[in-house]
Formats: sequence, structure tokens, C-alpha cells
Amino acid sequence: MSQALKTASAGRLLSDPGLLRTQACIDGEWIDADDGSTFRVLNPANHEVVAEVANLGGAETRRAIDAAEAARHAWAARSAFERSAVLRKWHELILGNVEDLAIIMTLEQGKVLAESRGEIAYAASFIEWFAEEAKRIYGEILPQPQTDRRGIVIRQPVGVCAAITPWNFPSAMLARKAAPALAVGCSMVAKPPHETPLSMLAMAELAQRAGLPAGLLNVVPTEASRVVGEELCSNPTVRKLSFTGSTAVGKILTKQCAGTLKRLSMELGGNAPAIVFDDADLEQAATGVALAKYRNSGQTCICVNRILVQESIYDEFVDELKKVVGTYRIGDGMDESVTHGPVITREALEGIRELVDDAIERGATVAAGGAFGEGDSHFVEPTILCNVSDDMRVFGEEIFGPVAPIFKFGTEEEAIAMANDTEFGLASYVYTRDQGRCWRVAEAIEYGMVGVNETMISSAYFPFGGIKESGQGREGSHFGVEDYLETKYVCLGGLGA
Ligand code: SIN
Repeated sequence: MSQALKTASAGRLLSDPGLLRTQACIDGEWIDADDGSTFRVLNPANHEVVAEVANLGGAETRRAIDAAEAARHAWAARSAFERSAVLRKWHELILGNVEDLAIIMTLEQGKVLAESRGEIAYAASFIEWFAEEAKRIYGEILPQPQTDRRGIVIRQPVGVCAAITPWNFPSAMLARKAAPALAVGCSMVAKPPHETPLSMLAMAELAQRAGLPAGLLNVVPTEASRVVGEELCSNPTVRKLSFTGSTAVGKILTKQCAGTLKRLSMELGGNAPAIVFDDADLEQAATGVALAKYRNSGQTCICVNRILVQESIYDEFVDELKKVVGTYRIGDGMDESVTHGPVITREALEGIRELVDDAIERGATVAAGGAFGEGDSHFVEPTILCNVSDDMRVFGEEIFGPVAPIFKFGTEEEAIAMANDTEFGLASYVYTRDQGRCWRVAEAIEYGMVGVNETMISSAYFPFGGIKESGQGREGSHFGVEDYLETKYVCLGGLGA
């Protein structure tokens, strides 16, 4: 274990130091960058160096792609049952190492240990799910008018897949891309974010221990994201890219992939509304909305971004939300009594502060929180903004921090119009006890996911994804394998007597 990690973890040492991998994983080997360069991973809670990680470039990325290409044929030729067994072993090893993996995640990402443990279990659940789905990739025989032939449809792996993942869910986002890819017989080259590469490297270490053959899961950490990203997007051997991150970067990657017409899965930004009607259970609504707003200190793509509350219950709802926020304790996620950790970087903090300042300048009032750490601190107090309006940046932009603007609406139609007044369409939430309204609103709002009287909607068993500028493709559930499969039609003729 590096000295840096010993210092940062302050007595909470990993029980298996072998999980702290700082080199890249290419073709089953742990390697340094060709030029020996490294980059630092910093703990967002205290700025200590957690580790120095290999800083790869284009040449190493090309070798990773070549290794993935060489390895994929033998893997695809194995039975689905064999692939499933390897994935199941990987799932078991992850669950057997939850504590160490959670410590690594909290040190590099900042989320509190309880959330890190939750994310590890969430990541493992995708691997278990797709280990089962591997056995359920069915073909079809389609009816046709001619009796001397049969039209057969088979499903085949797309080939080498690239994954570019974000820092907010360093393990789960790898799992929900790599597990379906490997389950159906693809191979993968994954680029972790430079802020949080250690979680993915630890997952790759466990995949190796589970018996995943060399070359199937290659991990290319880098600080030169553009160089590695361009290679992954332009290399013709890569047949598919799955990206989770901002809409702005998703658009750039989509353009870069156009030259080789790659298959794309894009899980991009959101601007989730939570609509609270006057017939809702307000305590339940405030608890659910707070969870979805402040989880991971507001840094998830499906975090509530705009709370829309019917005017007759506005003040009552604000009071309920304040009660929940009043129970929070901000600090270093390694401290078990802390409920909310720092945001990822100082730059992120400044971006959130600009949105709050803009709202206040235009007339918003701070009902709770509102403080930002000084100096190089990454801490933002969980904040509630009232008297907000749709001309403020917090209405149209993704906040990605623990700030909750609460807007007023009058009628159901107005709420639907406000919810849809955005280019994004990822997650949305509705609180009402009226069954008819549940259906009407869920069908009328333009989002890939709708939580009705529930905000914890993510799981391995349901399709996660967005519409409009929130992306394309679905992750999780039986839909999650579709993006990794090609459809091939075989016409089997000459069957006449
Ligand atoms: C994300 O923020 O991209 C993922 C959130 C989740 O899976 O719940």
C-alpha cells in the first residue's frame, strides 16, 4: 500500500492492499505509462494524495484496443453458461470485498462510507443480473411465405466496446457497461475518470481474480482524457462506445464516433423535476425529494434539480424539507457520523456557487444552508432556495450540487409544462395520491424515467436512460444487453423436397 493511502485512510487500512492498483490493466498485465508519467488522485475532503496513477496516452490505448480485439473471439465462442460463471464469481468477489472497495471509493470520490458501500452492492447487482441475462440471449425464426426456406435471426456480440465513465459513480458505471458487454461476448477498453480511477482498477483486479481471461477488460487511466477519448472514438476496431457524463462531452464524443459509425450508448445530463401536488403525503414527499436531491451531495445525473410545488402547500413543504436538511452533517466521508461529503473539486464548488449567486441576484431567498467552504475547501452546505423563477439559471441548468430550488405552480397543466420546459429528459419524480393523476402526469412528462411517490428508482432490474439531450440507450434490465448485440438475419434456403 502506498504511503499516501496509509496517511489518508488514517487507521482504516485496507484489509487487502492488493486491491489498491495504480497501474493500467492491458491484456491481463499491470503496466506503467510508456513514458513513466503518473497523475495524482486527491482526496476531495482533505486534498491529501491518495495515490499516483499511471498516466496513459494514445499508444497504450491502441495496445489495449488490440488486446481486446484479440481476446474477444475466444470469449464469444465460449458458452453463455461459462461466461455467466465468470461474471458470477466476479460479483461474489466484489461483495466479499465491500469494505475495502468502499474505503477506496470514499477516499477518492468523497461520498460517505455508507453511500460507498451502497454503490459497491449496486455495482455487484449489475454483474449478477447480467450473469443471468447471458443465458437469455434468444434468436428467432420468423414466418415467411416461401416453404423451401427459413428466416433465422441470431444475436451476436458487437465486438470491442469502449466505456468512458464518470467520477460520481466510479464502480457502478463500469459495472453496468462491462457486465452486459462481457455477458454477451464482447470485450472492453474502459477509461476511468482521472479524479477516481482507483475504484475501477480495483474492480479490474477482482475481475482477474474471478478468472476473466486477459484482454477482455482493459483499463486505461489517464489525465489526458482528450487524447485517450479520441483514440477510443476514432479507432475502427472499437465498434461501440458507452459514455456516462455531461451532455456537452457526449455531443463531442458522438461527433468523434461518426467517422467510424460506432454504436452509441449515451447517458448524459439531466434537469430532473420533482412535482409535488397538494394531495401528496408531504412528509413522504419531503423525505423522498431530499434523498434524491442531496444523495452523493447532489452529484448524480438523476438528482432532483427543480422542485415544483403546488402553491397551496408551498410553505408547508418548505418546512418539511428544512426539517430533513436540518438532520444532515457535512464532513469527511470516512467519519461514520457524517451524512454528506464534499463536492468533487473546487471548480465544481465555484460552478454551484455561481448558480446560487445568480438566483439570489434575481430575487431568490435562502431558506436553509447557503454557505460555501472558503480557501480550497470542497464543502457546500445543503441549501434550499425559495422565491425562485424560471428566468434563473437554476431552472435550466444542471446544478450537480446540494442546492434545492423550490418553484411554485398552480395547475396540473402548468406543472407538466414547467417539467417539460428543458432540453433534458432523464429522470423525473411526481408526488400525488390521485391514481388518475399518477398516470396522466407520468405519461405527459417527457423523461426516460418517472418515479411516482418514489425517488430511489435506480436498479439493475429496470432500464436506466434518458430521452432528448439526456442521451440514448438503456442500461440495466433485459434492455441493457440490447446495446451490446447485433441482429443478424440468416436465410436458410434449399429446404424444398
Ligand atoms: C448517474 O448519476 O449517472 C447514475 C445514478 C444512478 O445510477 O442512480
